[in-house]
Amino acid sequence: MTQSIGILTSGGDTPGLNAAIRGVGKACQSHYGMHIVGFRDGFRGLMENRTMALEGEALSGILTLGGTILGTSRDKPHKMPVNGKVLDMTEAIIANYHANGLDCLVCLGGGGTMKNALRLAAAGLNVVTLPKTIDNDVALTDTTFGFDTALGIATDAIDRLHSTAHSHHRIIVVEIMGHRAGWLALGAGISGGADVILIPEIPYDVATVADAIKARKRKGKPFSIVAVAEGALSRQEFAALQATAAKKKKKAVVVEPELLYAERTLRLAQQLEKLTGLEARVTILGHLQRGGTPSAADRLLATRLGTAAADLIQQRQYGIMVAARGESSVPVRLEDVAGQVKTVPPDHPWVASARGVGTNLGD
Ligand code: F6P
Repeated sequence: MTQSIGILTSGGDTPGLNAAIRGVGKACQSHYGMHIVGFRDGFRGLMENRTMALEGEALSGILTLGGTILGTSRDKPHKMPVNGKVLDMTEAIIANYHANGLDCLVCLGGGGTMKNALRLAAAGLNVVTLPKTIDNDVALTDTTFGFDTALGIATDAIDRLHSTAHSHHRIIVVEIMGHRAGWLALGAGISGGADVILIPEIPYDVATVADAIKARKRKGKPFSIVAVAEGALSRQEFAALQATAAKKKKKAVVVEPELLYAERTLRLAQQLEKLTGLEARVTILGHLQRGGTPSAADRLLATRLGTAAADLIQQRQYGIMVAARGESSVPVRLEDVAGQVKTVPPDHPWVASARGVGTNLGD
């Protein structure tokens, strides 16, 4: 019997989502003769049964497009704002899954999506997920699509900031996305040759950072690029967070609005200006890092994972995320992925390489 597949994109958009939708859709339809339907705006669209036909020409011409043709949202099935209230809409989602005659729901998303997908799997739905996020923080996969494109954009930004920092003898503090993980700031900082890289996984001492900048000045380099991950914390901020978490008997987790990130970044620039005597400027890359054309590597990864998802659905393997492992795409159990955040281990080879070329990591 023909299988019917639903697909949605959830969480922040990333370059490569359309390549993945195309990969899943084309392989499901052309290769396996399945029927596929899209749901708009993540789990909200499934709850409201807002569909998008993905047959015929719908999947043509989207490989190179940024964003997601399906639209996305951060809505969770079990905590959905509806008419001014936050409600558990899992039952409505299950009802629409069955009303559409689905055999499987494919969810393209990051850490939050993995948790939501696991909840739906536990409620009896057949679910397969693909890992996307510019943060690269999904567990059990080598990498996530979106990361490579964002890495390119952030690296290009650092390259451009170099010449202006050099000309004006300034410190430029560039804030890079990544939420709780430092992959993007570390990767772009290394690729762009930042002089200082600050990531959430290594709490920094502002005086140490200032000393490194002053040492460069003494060597005739009175300018510095400081690549700071949005979740980076000074030792004091880290200690305060841990103390609050201990009071609440919770794990110290940094989940903060962008305004707070920006506030901290501005404060860091002011402190460095004061401690070094050099003028400082701040550049917040923000959503630029998520926009536009996906890189070739992201198109390739998204297509690989998307077509592998179709193979696994054909084999009726559900309750899984399709992970990148070397050149292969492998299924991993959703319960092993959900709730895990892949942060940068302080002894990671990238950290060692950054130190190897003399980059200051603030510790
Ligand atoms: O998770 C991806 C991400 O871009 C983070 O790096 C960033 O902290 C967050 O999303 C921004 O979220 P929003 O799209 O809601 O502004």
